[in-house]
Amino acid sequence: MSSKQPSTIYLEDYQPPAWLVTHTELRFELEEDQTLVRAQLSIQSNPAVSDRRKPLELLGDAGMELCRLSIDGQVLDAADYQREAGCLRIANVPESFVLECVTRLLPHENTALEGLYKSDGMFCTQCEAEGFRRITFFPDRPDVMSIFRTTLVADKQRYPVLLSNGNPVDSGEDDEGRHWVTWDDPWPKPSYLFALVAGDLALLEDQYTTASGREVALRIYAERKDLDKLDYAMQALKDAMRWDEDVYGREYDLDIYMIVAVDFFNMGAMENKGLNIFNTSCVLAHPQTTTDQGFQRVEGVVAHEYFHNWSGNRVTCRDWFQLSLKEGFTVFRDAEFSADMNSRTVKRIEDVTLLRTAQFAEDGGPMAHPVRPESYMEISNFYTLTVYEKGAEVVRMLHTLLGPELFRQGSDLYFERHDGQAVTTDDFVAAMETVSGRDLSQFKRWYSQAGTPRLQVSDSFDAATGCYQLKVRQSCPPSPGQEHKQPYHLPLAVGLLAEDGRELFAGLLELTEEEQVFRFDNISERPVPSLLRGFSAPVKLDYDYTDAQLLMLLRHDTDGFNRWDAGQRLCIRLLQTQIRNHQQGVALSCSSELIEAWRNLLQDASLDPAMLAQCLRLPSEAQLSELAEQIDVSAIHEAREFMRTTLAQVLEQEWLQVYQRCDTGETYSTDAEAMGRRSLKNLALAYLMATGREPWLELARQQYSQSDNMTDQLAALSLVAHSDFRETADELLQAFYLQWQHESLVMNQWLSVQASDPSAGALARVNQLAEHPIFDARNPNKLRALIGGFCGQNPMHFHAEDGSGYAWLADWILRLDRQNPQVAARLLTPLTRWKRHEPVRSALMQGQLQRMMDTAELSADVYEVVSKSLM
Ligand code: ARG
Ligand code: ZN
Repeated sequence: MSSKQPSTIYLEDYQPPAWLVTHTELRFELEEDQTLVRAQLSIQSNPAVSDRRKPLELLGDAGMELCRLSIDGQVLDAADYQREAGCLRIANVPESFVLECVTRLLPHENTALEGLYKSDGMFCTQCEAEGFRRITFFPDRPDVMSIFRTTLVADKQRYPVLLSNGNPVDSGEDDEGRHWVTWDDPWPKPSYLFALVAGDLALLEDQYTTASGREVALRIYAERKDLDKLDYAMQALKDAMRWDEDVYGREYDLDIYMIVAVDFFNMGAMENKGLNIFNTSCVLAHPQTTTDQGFQRVEGVVAHEYFHNWSGNRVTCRDWFQLSLKEGFTVFRDAEFSADMNSRTVKRIEDVTLLRTAQFAEDGGPMAHPVRPESYMEISNFYTLTVYEKGAEVVRMLHTLLGPELFRQGSDLYFERHDGQAVTTDDFVAAMETVSGRDLSQFKRWYSQAGTPRLQVSDSFDAATGCYQLKVRQSCPPSPGQEHKQPYHLPLAVGLLAEDGRELFAGLLELTEEEQVFRFDNISERPVPSLLRGFSAPVKLDYDYTDAQLLMLLRHDTDGFNRWDAGQRLCIRLLQTQIRNHQQGVALSCSSELIEAWRNLLQDASLDPAMLAQCLRLPSEAQLSELAEQIDVSAIHEAREFMRTTLAQVLEQEWLQVYQRCDTGETYSTDAEAMGRRSLKNLALAYLMATGREPWLELARQQYSQSDNMTDQLAALSLVAHSDFRETADELLQAFYLQWQHESLVMNQWLSVQASDPSAGALARVNQLAEHPIFDARNPNKLRALIGGFCGQNPMHFHAEDGSGYAWLADWILRLDRQNPQVAARLLTPLTRWKRHEPVRSALMQGQLQRMMDTAELSADVYEVVSKSLM
């Protein structure tokens, strides 16, 4: 058993802070073997809290060395304070005082990448959620907001660039080659938004004039070799700044906006005030090294972090249970931005696919939690798809229910009421209630209840009276700690279509009851309902469509999202039949109606290529697993492969025509149309390769060597690498390595292509790659590529029947847990789904979880995930 069980923090135990920190002055002496931090905190008792006799409690990591502590210049000795676990307690402090504290840090030994650490020789920080307590002792909680002034001192040659939040106000150097810069941030902020960077960095600079005329210097820093990969992020930043002014009326509020790219980063990026720190994977972009998907991600993440300046920084969270207040809202904002910049329907399809695949799985698993969780052991485990993506869907539903104008008024009111405050999701909803005059108390169940609701829809039509009725029943399965769920308030966007596709009705229904009947009069013929248009609520919807009705919707629905969804429903249904056939030893078959429908789509040159590519993509094995009663990995794989190869073979000519139609020879551009053509072209190539025929290997090889961009090159590489043409596979993998070995991000792709290779011997291959010089087990991007690639993208091998994949992952988790608990806990996710699998695999997965549980000294991160999974 683990020696000490981490304690659980509860939302209901929230207490306002007894002490406030008005000003924080920090001085960092950055050296190679240590960093000394001197913090001067101007502390005063919180006038809003009556219990003034409370001791001062500051949070500080148990491993952090405290060198000196004084109050108003009086040095304290060990008898004056108590230090236990992560807390420093000082009794008998005055009403208001200056606390000075010196700590010694070892950033070069910080492999957890929280607090102050080194990434490729530069100093950087990550403080959200609880990293600041690894830098100094502080009331490290988001409702304590302070004005920061920060001085960095470092060797001038090694670290010519010294950055922190706000504006540089002073600088100088000494005779020993060291220099210093002081930064001042005028906006009070919680400690999680503090940041510093010191390094030898190249800079791309630009500027932006806000609507009210403020000149803002835009600076993106990266390692010198990456200077040519910053233009796209810069454009995205300017687009995001304009968009937030146009759509939300929000302007930037400092004279400098900085982004720094670092290669060692636990997550995607971080919205530190005026000084965003980004994972290189979310900021560097160049046609030759970045795929279309990568470009979209850069645009989305740059915008996301920028939007946080209002939704997160100016108005922040009262406590970490409110995380979705800033994340759900900001994801909604960045999704709308990306929809406006590219294809709205395609963006929606991608987001819903992620939600249905991964968030629904989370919501149905042992770590299921509400958008506003009620408890946690380790907050890092709650940066989840539920808090982010489902949280964004909840905000989207408010937008749908209120309409864009009222929603904007609500957002304006929210920012006006709470500027400079740390607030709750209730405050957000309250602003929406005020502007709309609506009672949203039932709606708030979306924040407090976990699980994915299910809607069961049936209908009836009376031809004599022209009356059509939709009956909707809603329910939500139990989740950990929540046996019974109350009905939700949700928007159900609906269209009614005639047999020939004419729209007889389009509108929004509002669900509030467990069961509701909606009546439509003057309907001329029995309609086909187009339900949950645009995915108007994050639910599962059942309606007993016939194949013919789905084919009609696929052809005619005026809602682009539902056109795509009709095709997906049809494929899922056919695949589920084949999965059963496989399990029962019945020969597999593919419906001729589907084949003909696809043939029509493929031959229709007027369709938007990006949409067409979405329609012709089969649901993933992960999504089929989420939908399965009980997951049978091999049956799912075999059924899907059968369908894929059948569609490849019978439509071979059509795939080739589409390939040729999209292969325009145009020079690379990242506009939505060009990306759409490439996605369709590479999908066609994938189907051609699925025939297993030699001419298409040649075509892929040609595309590989002739393409001028990473999208086409990587698509060709991964198709060949995953094919039975092993010789060519090895040859291209080797060539790719030689060409790109100096590009860290490209090498991550090289690792994941191989980790996800379904051919025999996968485990031996990943073991070999783990020894490869380009692999670095301290770099989260490399771990995600190799371990995440194998466990998440190579189901047949991860779920090998001898349990070898599970043991391999558990070995890694135990090793990584001592080094980087956050990343270890995240990589663990696939094992947590053990209850959903058939008995043999289920027992093997459980066995590995138990083995981890029996290990002494698990981090709180891994302990929480393992123990909750076993419950
Ligand atoms: N606030 C960041 C974002 O969503 C995520 C930072 C999460 N960091 C962490 N260690 N959990 O943009
Ligand atoms: Zn965020």
